[in-house]
Amino acid sequence: MTGVRHPAQDAKRLVATASGTERESVAWPHRDLLSLEELTADEITVILDTAEAFEDVSTRSVKKVPALRGRVVVNLFFEDSTRTRTSFTLAAQRLSADVIDFTARTSALNKGESLRDTVRNIEAMGVDLIVCRHSASGAPYLIARNVNCSVINAGDGRHEHPTQGLLDIYTIRQAKKRIDGLNVAIVGDVANSRVARSNLHGLLKLGAEVSFVGPTTLVPKAFEQLGANIYHNFDAVIDRFDVINMLRVQRERVTSNVFPSLEEYSRLFGLTNERMKRAKPDVLVMHPGPINRGVEMSADVADGQKSAILRQVANGLSVRMAVMFLCKQAADVG
Ligand code: CP
Repeated sequence: MTGVRHPAQDAKRLVATASGTERESVAWPHRDLLSLEELTADEITVILDTAEAFEDVSTRSVKKVPALRGRVVVNLFFEDSTRTRTSFTLAAQRLSADVIDFTARTSALNKGESLRDTVRNIEAMGVDLIVCRHSASGAPYLIARNVNCSVINAGDGRHEHPTQGLLDIYTIRQAKKRIDGLNVAIVGDVANSRVARSNLHGLLKLGAEVSFVGPTTLVPKAFEQLGANIYHNFDAVIDRFDVINMLRVQRERVTSNVFPSLEEYSRLFGLTNERMKRAKPDVLVMHPGPINRGVEMSADVADGQKSAILRQVANGLSVRMAVMFLCKQAADVG
């Protein structure tokens, strides 16, 4: 791309020199990150490469670069979170931003203020970037339409969780050295999972084959239209997969009896050491967290040699640094 430098080069230089003052055209045009469905394969690769450049920062004694110095990031979380919220906070701090944690439960939303008014008031205080998690699918789009600052989706209802999808894909690429041609299973509560959707869109764009595995009530045949293979018998297909990403059973979103009992679910779809004997010897086991140990997977699999679960969490930092850095650059240019 003549005259346009890959943003990972910017990130590498930033990490190397800690100058952070240069500004050029970059191959990343988006002020916001709302979904992976709307990104191209090249744009996803730009994020992954930029995250790789930022990885070094987390291993230094001084874990900071000045990329967002003087900028303000607001964490706007309307749903509980351990990993995503902490990861965005730490990532923003490593980019030298000031971070504000907005807590919906103690805000003027409880006095009847609308989401639109809330975000417009927050932006009026000079905020540069809003990170939003909301139980309503589409809430980050509503926010992005009503503010001029950057908006990053940290999970909206059953729609998407783009940074989780990116950190999952980053972790797979790190372990397997490629995405193209891999056979990836996403197992469990697909119907209620924003993680499944973000993984599906990102993995398909980068050339992987994606299979959804689970009971018919949670993995409807209609999902084939999204480009995934659909399987209801885990044992019959487990030996095909290079990666098995186990989804949490989302008790808060499961509104009716979609399987007879958690014991029955675990017996048919839980990843145990016994079931792992049928998987490929080099299979990579993943889970976005939080885990229901003994339901989606046994504790020994979660903590075992093939598990990448804590690596996923660690990689989330570099990925979120990359996303905030790129969106801020695009906002400054545009
Ligand atoms: N994976 C994930 O989104 O975890 P949290 O709900 O803890 O943020």
